[in-house]
Amino acid sequence: MIALGCDHGGLEIKNAVIKYLEDNKINYKDYGCYTSESVDYPKYAYKVATAVTSGKAELGILCCGTGIGVSMAANKVKGIRAAVVSNEFCAEMTRRHNDANILCMGGRVSTKDEAVKFADIFLNTPFDGDRHTKRVDMIKAIEEGTYNI
Ligand code: RB5
Repeated sequence: MIALGCDHGGLEIKNAVIKYLEDNKINYKDYGCYTSESVDYPKYAYKVATAVTSGKAELGILCCGTGIGVSMAANKVKGIRAAVVSNEFCAEMTRRHNDANILCMGGRVSTKDEAVKFADIFLNTPFDGDRHTKRVDMIKAIEEGTYNI
């Protein structure tokens, strides 16, 4: 299952991603928001981040105006590696090298077509492992307070 969330600034691109998921029969849960009324993005970032860390969702997608606010909030949840993406290269590399588990995008940065493309790449790119495993483990150690390398 893919967990989705947004604020008012990311609603349109989230809805475009939802259409892509439905067209491709990919299971998802939309944690809101659902209208263009102004809302607070940390609420939706938290819902999606905890869906991922609890194992309910394999990956998450969060959208706000820039992608930055949702990424900052999501990255405060232990176990989350949320990446702000605004080009195809980063959508691929953050899966391959960082094992990112949440894709963050901005509705005031990327078009609907771009957001769908970034989501498609993100959801279909595996983690490379190998030397990158050690580096992701170092990120985890920083989070755990056990970093001493
Ligand atoms: C909302 O106006 C805006 O601040 C939000 O969507 C996001 O861009 C924050 O990072």
